[in-house]
Order: sequence, then C-alpha cells, then structure tokens
Amino acid sequence: PLVSMKEMLDTAKANSYAVGQFNINNLEYIQAILQAAEEEKSPVILGVSEGAGKYMGGYGVVVAMVKSLMEAYGTTVPVAIHLDHGSSFEACAKAIHAGFTSVMIDASHDPFEQNIATTSKVVELAHFHGVSVEAELGTVGGQEDDVVGDIIYADPKECQELVERTGIDCLAPALGSVHGPYKGEPNLGFKEMEEIGAATGLPLVLHGGTGIPLKDIQKAISYGTSKINVNTENQIQQAAKVREVLEANPNMIDPRKYLGPSRDVIKETVIGKMREFGSAGKA
Ligand code: G3H
Ligand code: ZN
Repeated sequence: PLVSMKEMLDTAKANSYAVGQFNINNLEYIQAILQAAEEEKSPVILGVSEGAGKYMGGYGVVVAMVKSLMEAYGTTVPVAIHLDHGSSFEACAKAIHAGFTSVMIDASHDPFEQNIATTSKVVELAHFHGVSVEAELGTVGGQEDDVVGDIIYADPKECQELVERTGIDCLAPALGSVHGPYKGEPNLGFKEMEEIGAATGLPLVLHGGTGIPLKDIQKAISYGTSKINVNTENQIQQAAKVREVLEANPNMIDPRKYLGPSRDVIKETVIGKMREFGSAGKA
C-alpha cells in the first residue's frame, strides 16, 4: 500500500535496519524499484526531487504512474512517495495536494529560526493529511539537481530544538555526507549521530548514500540511522548499461532494447542496497 514514512521508519529504528529512499527519474526507475521491493519483500521510499517531478510532468503525473504500476504489479509492500529536498512550503504543499505520502522540507540553508518556522508550517499541513515530514540541519556537501552545498555539520542542540518545536517525523542531520561521488573516504560524524539519535529519539536520515562503504552503513544504522538516500549509484549503473548496449549495437534505435536492460540494472542495484540496509524481508 501507499503509506507515509512514519510507521516504516519507526519500525526500522526499533529493529535496527534502514529503509532505502531511491530517487525516481522516469517510468523505468519506478518499475525497477517497485519490482526490487516486491521481490525482496522490503518497504521502500520513492524519492522525487523537484527537478525530477517537473521532468516527469508534475507531481500528479508521478503519483498516477506510481499508483498505476503498484496496481499492475499487485504491490503488497509498503511504499512511500516522498518529495526529496523540498525547497519551500509551497513545493511541499503542491506535493501533498498531489497525493505524496511524505515530504522533506529542506530549509537547512536558512537561518535556524526561519528553518523552524517553515518546517512547522509544513508539519501542520502535512500531518493534517497524514503525510510524514523530514527536515534537515547542517548542509550536505556536493551537488545534485539544483541542491548544492558545502559540508556543514549539524549542531546536536539545534537538532533537539528543531524536533521539539516542529514535530517532524524524521531528521536529516548533515554529518559529513555528500551528494554524488565522494572524494576519498566519507568521514561521517558518528559521535554526533549517536548523540542526536539518542537525544531526539527520531529515525535519522543519511543523505548521499552513494559511495558509503558497508561498514559505515552498518555503523550509521547502529547509531539510529533508519533512512538512507541513494540516487547517484542507480544513475551511474543505468548510464553504463545504456552506453554498453548502444556501443555494442550501433544500429539499435528501439528504446525498449536499451532502456529495458538498464531498468534491470537499476533493479539489481536496489536489491543489493535493500540487503545492505537490512530492509529485505522486513515488509
Ligand atoms: O536526496 C538524495 C540523496 O541524498 C542522494 O544522494 O546521489 O549521493 O546517493 P546520492
Ligand atoms: Zn539528499
């Protein structure tokens, strides 16, 4: 069923595993991720950035595609449709009214009090509709879509205050993660993660999941990370497969002949992540 993230993340935190957010960009991504989740019997979060939402034709089109595919597949696992890095109250409101079951309001670039104010407004509207809310403090490094930032660690005191004053369902404390490929080994703030996880009692979110080694994934889960976002990895794998198939078949023009195999590569990548995160078999 289509659900908010609340129950799936609270359950994940209580049972020491993480649910993957896999960003979607088109039909094939939705197909691949839903197939992976059903085969692995894993809860799953479909992440939709504002750019990807526009590209697919708007949030209403995204919801319609997801719902139709879930019906066609007879999906039985819990699925959340989540606005990734919502840049304003208005963007979150649009997604909520289009039928998204979860939104992230990313006001981490704003002054703290403004982050609180915007996030509180989003929580009020979202919770009225049974929609879950993720917020961020500190900033994730790297670049993705139009989300750019330097690494600024979240402050544990501010994290606790944001949670208490806004009522969010999960928190993304930026602690050294980077969108896109890492330059060198990731250097995550596990001490702060443990402190924030314990102080807030909320499921924590790790952005920039691509390129984080399994030992760090498992450590993050042990310190309260219950949602891990992955986008770049799927894009790298898909692009490599499309190039490989087209280079091997210079006369190929049927899109299904190169998009189909690339869909399968996304599915395999997602299955691997569900097993790494421990969400496989938990639905
Ligand atoms: O919000 C999306 C994620 O943070 C994606 O990060 O592309 O580095 O896997 P990634
Ligand atoms: Zn992110």
